[in-house]
Amino acid sequence: MNFTVKTINTSTLKSACILIPVFEGGRLSASGKVINKSSKGFIARVLKSGDLTGKTGQTLLLHNVPGTLADRILLTGFGEQKEITPSNYKKALISGINALKSTESKDASLCVAEIKVKGQNSSANIKQAALEIESALYTFDQYKSKEKTTNLKKVTFVLTSPATTENNQAAKNGKAVGVGVNLAKDLGNSPPNVCHPSYLAKQAQQLAKSYSNLSVKIINEKELEKMGAGAFLSVSQGSDQPAKLIVMQYKGGKPGDAPHALVGKGITFDSGGISLKPGAGMDEMKYDMGGAASVFGTVKAICELKLKLNVVAVVAAAENMPSGGASRPGDIVTTMSGQTVEILNTDAEGRLVLCDALTYVGQFKPASVVDIATLTGACIIALGHQTTAMLSNNETVAKNLLAAGNTALDKAWQLPLEEEYQSQLDSPFADMANIGGRPAGTITAACFLSRFAEDYQWAHLDIAGTAWVSGGMKKGSTGRPVPLLTQYLQDRANEKASAPKQSRAAKSKK
Ligand code: BES
Ligand code: MN
Ligand code: ZN
Repeated sequence: MNFTVKTINTSTLKSACILIPVFEGGRLSASGKVINKSSKGFIARVLKSGDLTGKTGQTLLLHNVPGTLADRILLTGFGEQKEITPSNYKKALISGINALKSTESKDASLCVAEIKVKGQNSSANIKQAALEIESALYTFDQYKSKEKTTNLKKVTFVLTSPATTENNQAAKNGKAVGVGVNLAKDLGNSPPNVCHPSYLAKQAQQLAKSYSNLSVKIINEKELEKMGAGAFLSVSQGSDQPAKLIVMQYKGGKPGDAPHALVGKGITFDSGGISLKPGAGMDEMKYDMGGAASVFGTVKAICELKLKLNVVAVVAAAENMPSGGASRPGDIVTTMSGQTVEILNTDAEGRLVLCDALTYVGQFKPASVVDIATLTGACIIALGHQTTAMLSNNETVAKNLLAAGNTALDKAWQLPLEEEYQSQLDSPFADMANIGGRPAGTITAACFLSRFAEDYQWAHLDIAGTAWVSGGMKKGSTGRPVPLLTQYLQDRANEKASAPKQSRAAKSKK
């Protein structure tokens, strides 16, 4: 989408469609009032009919409104003027965009910057709108004989005061996150016969070709064996598709700056292995690389944003299949860390690929590590499909992730990573078992991972409930938690930029 920010009087604005916000009680904002005046009260008369009261998400499309140069006016309800929260604003935006989508409009002008959203300025409004537009116009139909086309090519954000550089940046910012979200959706929605570990590796190489400060290294099974990644390799041993450890390095910071690390679970299909899953809905286990997809999406977003930060992004890609070569319940494997694991259930494979990836990432001496995984069905029971689970060995990282999730409207909730749960992983034959029984399944999965993340500040995001929408025609990847992760990294870059410069003397004393 082509976004621009413009200061213009709505009565003289040429546009295929102008989106005018309406608040509860039929109240208008500045731009709406201007149009109402130039149309000699036409808008007010329409509102008086009562067809649109201003309730959040209502829309009413008007054609050929007198005294304007717009083909269409789209009245959109944003709710009680004094009570607009960011999430209500988002809800209203999405229905406005959906109404816009169903018209033939090739361009649109949105008067949303002037809406008073709680805790937001005009730039935040623009950023959010750009992201929602990019995301709402997403389609995935390259596997259908007839592809849909979207008419809308250009969106202008109308300002009543002169545009600032912050306003312009906000549109770019929102678009970057939207593009990242859509890349994550594309990878998630891709069928598992196409999107296998080697395909993901190719995607990483392609990304690195597009951005000069992004480099990529693909580690194959032979090398993984040399590195001692016995847990990771045990997952792919039943598959004809070889595992790949994909390592992307983004260098936007100073050469010596410790990188922030992202680690994604990339199970391109999770059949359960020998501990085979039931058949119903098994197709949705193509989304078991949702963590990896969010890592790709976030990398793309930060490349677009040119974040001044170093990031290392690791994807542990493998396919979990049953075969004569597959691992069995009872097998004992040695991880890259040297710790041994008794595999009691081959369907608890995510933690097996992640543990070696977490050990691997330690060599970068990361400032923080966040792993993202569709790890446990128990997470859906605990938090449903609204909220991502977060567990951490460091309170600052935990606080920062929760804050980023709140800002980006991509929320996470912390679960306790307490020592008391660790004993559920005890094994009579190895250092630990790969499952901890039914109680607190999300927590014991994180406990397992924590044993491989002791050397750095780490958090785990379980996105089993949030990475995709299941069932029927609504089925599809959400692109979450790309907004949360991008916000988290943006916050780290800003924190660094605003930190007081340390004097050389103070540095050498350390
Ligand atoms: N990928 C699944 C978790 C999952 C299941 C995510 C359903 C979203 C929807 C994971 O690999 C898995 O199978 N986990 C098991 C762990 C158990 C065997 C300890 C689970 O949650 O049942
Ligand atoms: Mn599984
Ligand atoms: Zn899985």
